[in-house]
Amino acid sequence: MRLKGRTALVTGGARGIGLAFVQAYLREGARVAIADISGADEAAASLGGDCIGLRMDVTDQASIDAGVARAADWGGGIDILLNNAAVFDLAPITDITRASYDRVFAINVAGTLFVMQAVARRMIAQGRGGRIINMASQAGRRGEPLVAVYCASKAAVISLTQSAGLNLIGHGINVNAIAPGVVDTPMWDEVDALFARYENKPIGQKKREVGLAVPYGRMGRPDDLTGMAVFLASDEAEYIVAQTYNVDGGQWMS
Ligand SMILES: NC(=O)c1ccc[n+]([C@@H]2O[C@H](COP(=O)([O-])OP(=O)(O)OC[C@H]3O[C@@H](n4cnc5c(N)ncnc54)[C@H](O)[C@@H]3O)[C@@H](O)[C@H]2O)c1
Repeated sequence: MRLKGRTALVTGGARGIGLAFVQAYLREGARVAIADISGADEAAASLGGDCIGLRMDVTDQASIDAGVARAADWGGGIDILLNNAAVFDLAPITDITRASYDRVFAINVAGTLFVMQAVARRMIAQGRGGRIINMASQAGRRGEPLVAVYCASKAAVISLTQSAGLNLIGHGINVNAIAPGVVDTPMWDEVDALFARYENKPIGQKKREVGLAVPYGRMGRPDDLTGMAVFLASDEAEYIVAQTYNVDGGQWMS
């Protein structure tokens, strides 16, 4: 019960890694607001426990402001933000469209920044510090031939984490990030389908290949990431500021 008495807001919490974070925070005694563009109410209803679902589109400032206000009213403030909502796309440089670039950056970069801003304002007003955990990726550590825009968006998340971490620690708000490797979620089914198209592979093959290439020996599972998400939100991480942690089965060292 390391998070007993705390209120967490988890964006993109209705499925995949975000849903595993919600479940882990509930197990640790936190109250959890699940914010998602779809499926948040259903996720909250299926979990039961001390959680609510909020429909939030992280590209829409009014939606962010309303969701953050509702979560804070419900939970007696917000102590932990898990900034997890994101989308993936892939295309060779010669095929990238402005629409794809705008969507990926609006959700992964501007969404991360402006949810962080709205929650940080609350945390400062509350005067009891807080924890912000952004979801980066191994994709933010280096480029990939077909994944320029998503990789750049996750590099931006690592950079935003560093700047926000330095800016907010004076208010007792620790900002850090997690960089997963390849994790078997609904997002990776979409990734696999895109690789199938661009690399002319049968569905499921790319997933098998990336799993075999992980030093640990398999793709990650959402639950492989929950230990770090709980730790960064806990009192034990008090002195950790502006870092991005790889939780990736040995894919990347930095
Ligand atoms: N799956 C992986 O291999 C992997 C690897 C590295 C990093 N990540 C990162 O981990 C996080 C979770 O990934 P996942 O695999 O669980 O993805 P996912 O696609 O399964 O889940 C993402 C969630 O975000 C929500 N979302 C999308 N757009 C939104 C918006 N505009 N507003 C609010 N919510 C929105 C979706 O509805 C969904 O519930 C993401 O930040 C992703 O980039 C994933």
